[in-house]
Amino acid sequence: MVNICIMTYGCQMNESDSLTLEQQLAANGFGLVDNVKTADAVILNTCSVRRKAEERIFGQLGHLKSEKSNREGKFAIGVIGCMAEGAREELIKRAPYIDFCLSPDETDSVLNELLTIFSIDANNIEANLQTSLPGDPFPFKRYIPIMRGCNNFCTYCIVPFVRGREKSVPIKGIKEKLTRFIDKGVMEVTLLGQNVNSYDSDKVNFPVLLSKLCEQAPQIGFRFMTSHPKDISNELIDVMASYDNVLPHLHLPMQSGSSAVLKTMNRKYTAEHYLGRIQRLRDKIPGIAITTDIICGFPGETDAQFEETLNMCKTIRFDSAFMFYYSVREGTAAADFPGLLPKNERKTRLQSLIKIQQKISKEVNCRHLDEELIVIAEQVSRRDSKVIAGRTGHNKTILFPGETSCIGQRLKIKCTKTDTWTLFGEKITD
Ligand code: SAH
Ligand code: SF4
Ligand code: F3S
Repeated sequence: MVNICIMTYGCQMNESDSLTLEQQLAANGFGLVDNVKTADAVILNTCSVRRKAEERIFGQLGHLKSEKSNREGKFAIGVIGCMAEGAREELIKRAPYIDFCLSPDETDSVLNELLTIFSIDANNIEANLQTSLPGDPFPFKRYIPIMRGCNNFCTYCIVPFVRGREKSVPIKGIKEKLTRFIDKGVMEVTLLGQNVNSYDSDKVNFPVLLSKLCEQAPQIGFRFMTSHPKDISNELIDVMASYDNVLPHLHLPMQSGSSAVLKTMNRKYTAEHYLGRIQRLRDKIPGIAITTDIICGFPGETDAQFEETLNMCKTIRFDSAFMFYYSVREGTAAADFPGLLPKNERKTRLQSLIKIQQKISKEVNCRHLDEELIVIAEQVSRRDSKVIAGRTGHNKTILFPGETSCIGQRLKIKCTKTDTWTLFGEKITD
């Protein structure tokens, strides 16, 4: 059997694409492994969003190059995902030993490439009935991509260039997928898109889609990402508030707390608008967890403007945040903006934001103390085999003593201790 190892970088969209590819490859007779040493081919599903992400992937390619030269038999290397579109020339130049490079729109061709490289006759394939795929540790959690691409062109962002324009998936296909997941006992579904609020297919908008799915599968908990603050409507907030099975968490990237910086980022909302959305969400959905993304040191960002971001974080008190320093992406509008800050300054700002946000996350998590939480048990803790790591509706990790047999179950856990990143608890047995 020809064994394939897929390594996934970047966002949930890539994770979802990798899972789909793994299923397709397994159905066509390939074995799936999670280790380069036992693989005949390695496929990197790549991310271009920041330079650091690309450098990590070039580092991995360096390792794969030596693996390839040490191997006696055939060893293929494929690159798919966003770098295959945005950094193709650099890839071919720096890693000429790559066997194939396919952009996000061409992922369907991976199978053919592999059949050709390994001289497999497509008419003579025996499906491989591996029940659990290595990239699928959580068969009870599923993604459904509902739209792809982005039309927003935030001035720092490469995504519209590598993923193309917005395209919504017709509702019929989404509902069919959900039906299959219901039959398989899936407990949690995340609807995915670069900007889910722009969903528009057959005159169905995102709030309507969400309500239809919630009604079709009342036993499934729904999440969705990513939402754009300019598009998050009162209608959507009402739908979130009225269905019990929309989980109480929203990821709403703020990017900056300064209206002037938001303008140069082309985000199309002000700091006041963002604050207003948070207030309405909290009014209508008490206790909702709100997480965000923030970029520090955007070109031209003054000390005072950065201070506005810090102040917004102190006012809003996000449950947690993904925080980045600005990374120049060639081809985006901001790459040509004046006022690029020295990397040291961007990093210093990031460090001071992280410090403040960590303190806030730690304090905010205290609100869960003594709460009885509904948790899906996900996996054995990496540190202690008698401890299970689960996820709350608020999308927080909670550790509790338990047996492997409870993995994939919905449990009631009492939160007994909290920390910056993690909650701790005990199973309630009734
Ligand atoms: N579609 C999503 C995800 C975009 S990428 C959204 O609109 O939120 C995820 C995060 O990476 C962004 O929210 C942003 O905070 C960050 N990011 C994107 N481009 C960046 C850049 N050039 N430098 C630093 N951070 C960046
Ligand atoms: Fe990038 Fe902005 Fe689109 Fe998000 S909304 S993918 S940050 S351009
Ligand atoms: Fe990265 Fe592409 Fe996602 S650039 S963040 S993998 S859409």
